[in-house]
Amino acid sequence: MSITFENKTFHLRSSGSSLVMQVTSSGYLAHLYYGHALPDGDYRFETLAPVLPQGSFFPNPPQEDELVSLATAMMEYPCYGTGDFRPSAIAAVGADGSPAVDLRYVSHRIYAGKPAIPGLPATYAAEQDADTLEIDMQDHTGLVVTLIYTAFRDYPVITRSVRAENRGSHTITLERIYSSATDFPTSNYDLLHLWGSWAMERTPERTPLTHGGQRISSLRGSSGHIHNPFAALVEKDASEEMGEVFGFSLVYSGSFAIETEVDSLGQTRILCGINPDGFGWQLQPGEKFDTPETVMVYSDQGIGGMSRTYHKLYSRHLIRGPWRDRDRPIIINNWEATYFGFNEEKLLEIARAAAPLGIEMLVMDDGWFGRRDDDHSSLGDWYVDQNKLPLGLGHLSDELHKLGMQMGIWFEPEMISPDSDLYRAHPDWALQLPGRPNSPARWQYVLDMSRQDVQDYLFERISDILSCAKIEYVKWDFNRNLTEVGSALLPPERQKEVGHRYMLGLYALLERLLNAFPDLLLEGCSGGGGRFDPGMLYYSPQIWTSDDTDPIERLTIQYGTSIVYPPSSMSAHVSASPNHQTGRVTSLNTRGVVAMGGSFGYELDISKLSDSEKSEIADQIRQYHEYAPIIRDGSYYRLMNSHEAGAWEIVSDDGKTVLVGYVSVLVRVVNVRILKLRGLDENARYLDPASGLVYTGGALMHGGLNLSLLNLRDREAVMIKLVRVD
Ligand code: DGJ
Repeated sequence: MSITFENKTFHLRSSGSSLVMQVTSSGYLAHLYYGHALPDGDYRFETLAPVLPQGSFFPNPPQEDELVSLATAMMEYPCYGTGDFRPSAIAAVGADGSPAVDLRYVSHRIYAGKPAIPGLPATYAAEQDADTLEIDMQDHTGLVVTLIYTAFRDYPVITRSVRAENRGSHTITLERIYSSATDFPTSNYDLLHLWGSWAMERTPERTPLTHGGQRISSLRGSSGHIHNPFAALVEKDASEEMGEVFGFSLVYSGSFAIETEVDSLGQTRILCGINPDGFGWQLQPGEKFDTPETVMVYSDQGIGGMSRTYHKLYSRHLIRGPWRDRDRPIIINNWEATYFGFNEEKLLEIARAAAPLGIEMLVMDDGWFGRRDDDHSSLGDWYVDQNKLPLGLGHLSDELHKLGMQMGIWFEPEMISPDSDLYRAHPDWALQLPGRPNSPARWQYVLDMSRQDVQDYLFERISDILSCAKIEYVKWDFNRNLTEVGSALLPPERQKEVGHRYMLGLYALLERLLNAFPDLLLEGCSGGGGRFDPGMLYYSPQIWTSDDTDPIERLTIQYGTSIVYPPSSMSAHVSASPNHQTGRVTSLNTRGVVAMGGSFGYELDISKLSDSEKSEIADQIRQYHEYAPIIRDGSYYRLMNSHEAGAWEIVSDDGKTVLVGYVSVLVRVVNVRILKLRGLDENARYLDPASGLVYTGGALMHGGLNLSLLNLRDREAVMIKLVRVD
């Protein structure tokens, strides 16, 4: 068992990391340590986390206690209003009207395995893969808070979530309830996070921690394009492959916050969870509330080591269902080929050109339902548009299957167009605040997913469509953020619950659909990658990475996304050149190499391509089939900063095959380009079948591949495969 409790000290050990905490004499839960795995030992304040000095401005606990002051001590789950002046993990208003909370240890349980979180996505583990600790803490109001920790046995991963239960006799209103709080004794770290916007998602930014607070957050009702629910504390001298990194990734797709605080003593606190702004949750006596999960990854092999742990964990213990272990179909999506201007004949023309090249699925994007010839109407009217598809979905699907292709379809279920039959019948189904007009975005409002009748309607419409034709894939889009977040069904005192109830409703609907259609492949999407988060990955093993399909722009987007998310989760398509978003001209080869950095597909009018382009596509597809299992299960290394060039490497699980993708970005005439590989066996030999050259692993990692010899010009790319030969 990797969790022990001795001398009032808990020691959780995952493979590679330790978390130590101590119950003090008056029942506080003090944080002693999180980091590199510690051996068995006697850990307490004296031996691990010396108590800091006190003074007039550092109040003492009401009873004498080893902690001396809550204002300076490292706390495991800091509470608001009872002596800790730093940002707190919990504030809850009880019968006395104060949001102060004072949690003291009551009991704990340790067991093998990992519990699910009711209604929420989370990582999962079998009994032999992980151990769990639950610690009950109680306030005098009757609020019982259970801190839930799981330590993974094969990864340096500890997950955290929190359950609150009202065991008192009065209503308790949660004002904030973070999923995790982690204190560090120093601030010798940079903050790494992923910022962005539409068509520019997940750009890594590394900044020094500053005294006071820093905050990465979303108030959009979705994780959003602007920040990702992830942050890492990176030791000052840590780099891509060296040094200590502490990752925090939140398994949630709604409004979130990750806050850091460096106090006057130079200690650091990092908190992750549901954004407290605009949040509130009433707990009646007997009711419970569960937070989403924080996934904490420790790496002593730099940022790359952290990423590889997230990749493996999310590929094996978050993504589920049959598609976790299957090669994903190579799709062609009609969006950039036709936008709204298609009919059955046009789709079949694309399919007839695509099928012989090996493309396996046609995805019909936006515009097949209601009267949707542009984005001004019809969301919610999930009935086929007879003008575009007079013979119905069944006929289109039959024709595609006759060609040997599968069929995918686009939905944007959470939305409602004011110009729709659904809105005319059910205006109360949109999110809304009494007396305030709704703010449209892309001419649409958002459905109130907290309502059971809305979920039922969507389930009925989507299942009907999926049952009336053979449809193997759904692209689940979401093209605006939440405003006027109120529900016509809830009383005023529960309106602050709507944002989180929306997420619970969305997750419940996704779960219900996957139970009804277990083989369905879901692809998440939100105007590209506006909801690319671990919560959505639990339901959709791949997510449309960005609406920006320009391969040079995609280098940065995919580079940033790979900081947390596995390559197989990044849906990536070869689109037309000049690119529709940037006008940049690139070769088909470059577009192919970049799209092969993720789950591969096409998004252009393939029927208009020349024979030589088609035959190049057929070659790409043959190549991708060979690479797909390696991309899905291998270990991923970022070899260069994406501004210099695109350079990544994937080593297969068995170490026998190595893929190297390289895209030159700004070539200089005098340009020596040496690419040092990673993760190889020093003494093994690797053959490059294309050149016939054999290298030792040591030569490739320390001497490097000399790409200068390829004489690549601007925006040219190469995919190199190396095979271990002994
Ligand atoms: C946004 C998506 O990201 C695009 O791929 C496309 O599906 C459009 N929505 C359709 O409206």
